[in-house]
Amino acid sequence: MSASAVHTQAEKAGATPYRRALLSVYDTVVLRWSNTLVWRYPRERLLAHYNSHLGGRHLDIGPGTGWYLQHATYPTPNPVVELLDLNPNTLQMTTARLADRGITAAAHTGSILAPLPADIGVFDSVAANFVLHCVPGTWAEKARAFGHIAQVMADDGVFFGSTILDTGAHHTPLSRALNRLYNGPIKLFHNRGDDLDGLHTALAAPFEEVEITVVGSVAVFAARRPRRLGS
Ligand SMILES: C[S@@+](CC[C@H](N)C(=O)[O-])C[C@H]1O[C@@H](n2cnc3c(N)ncnc32)[C@H](O)[C@@H]1O
Repeated sequence: MSASAVHTQAEKAGATPYRRALLSVYDTVVLRWSNTLVWRYPRERLLAHYNSHLGGRHLDIGPGTGWYLQHATYPTPNPVVELLDLNPNTLQMTTARLADRGITAAAHTGSILAPLPADIGVFDSVAANFVLHCVPGTWAEKARAFGHIAQVMADDGVFFGSTILDTGAHHTPLSRALNRLYNGPIKLFHNRGDDLDGLHTALAAPFEEVEITVVGSVAVFAARRPRRLGS
């Protein structure tokens, strides 16, 4: 299913790199090596973040290769999983991996910045991991996504995620150099100016409870108690 919205070139640019060739090496190069050696947030820790927050009805935004969803422990034997990504390759790969586990996932092509499809339902958990640093804009602009997510969450649901910060997290010379490279000549990231306080403020607007832990260069967050529009 495709959400009808017009996406900017910059928005599309954040998802375009995830072609089949990149996805075929992603689990090794990004999840195994880069997450551990560069950003210092190993994939096992992110998998634990999934395992402690996944709900029975889960929406995953920007699932990449679907490695986490394939290896996660779900709280119920028949979870409802839906996916949203601007890139159809990641949706295809993740859907296939989930099918191998016997989970039929509904896939929506769309941007995290756009309103969610009207018929998408209500979720116990929503995740956006390693997505926000790919999305263009300031925290105020990225915060539009948090407002949309809050409206599709159950009252006792959780929005969890992780994102590489530009400032407010610890950078090594290697992570600083790669962060610069990925914001410049190799255009993979859009996180210039992404700071810890800005992330907290952006999450606290639509959520009453916000927890953020910094691990290496990464902000790891969980937000609960969505504020209802008009309340
Ligand atoms: C770095 S990968 C992260 C994949 C996976 N979540 C992980 O933790 O390894 C970024 C993912 O976000 C998606 N993405 C980038 N910009 C997006 C946007 N504006 N809306 C939705 N998904 C987007 C990409 O297509 C890709 O699947």
